[in-house]
Amino acid sequence: MNESKVLIFDDARWQQLYDKCRTCTDCGLHCTRTNCVFGTGNINADIMFVGEAPGQNEDLQGVPFVGRAGQLFDRYLYAVGIERSDVYIANILKCRPPQNRDPLPEEQDRCINYLREQVRLVRPRIIVCLGRIAAMRLIRKDYMITKEHGQWVQRGDFLMTAVYHPALLLRDPRKKEDMLLDMKAVKEKLDELHKA
Ligand code: URA
Repeated sequence: MNESKVLIFDDARWQQLYDKCRTCTDCGLHCTRTNCVFGTGNINADIMFVGEAPGQNEDLQGVPFVGRAGQLFDRYLYAVGIERSDVYIANILKCRPPQNRDPLPEEQDRCINYLREQVRLVRPRIIVCLGRIAAMRLIRKDYMITKEHGQWVQRGDFLMTAVYHPALLLRDPRKKEDMLLDMKAVKEKLDELHKA
């Protein structure tokens, strides 16, 4: 585990949360992580994207969505006119599951408070789940991504939706058209909020 690299936040609440997360031993994944993948981006963003868990590149670099799936995701942000610097990106799990297997329910339970706290600090207007795992955790347990992607729900202060996970698009490029439509709708929703 690499604990020598420490991000310095101006805000003590962020620094405290980050320090807690990077030294966390609450589940077995801390034994195999290279880095805790805390989250990245604009901590004052109106929009937050939430993925599933770090992959190999993310584990090595300590930053979410920097591998192939992340690069594809960046292309969608660019295509619809959302700057990566205007969003905050995090995952349900902060440590990589071995062989990129799905996060176990108990790992999610142990880790979810980090995400809750990140949401509380960022206070985004919109939360977009990237893929089925995030949607099932944040929107509804029985969320069906193929049927429900792109639909909007209001949850307390947040408008929420889910789009396909970029890694799925790498495996099934036929879904790319739907992803583009969903991401355009996300951008429109963001513009609407800014106009209101
Ligand atoms: N997949 C995710 O869900 N998150 C990442 O950070 C990278 C790949």
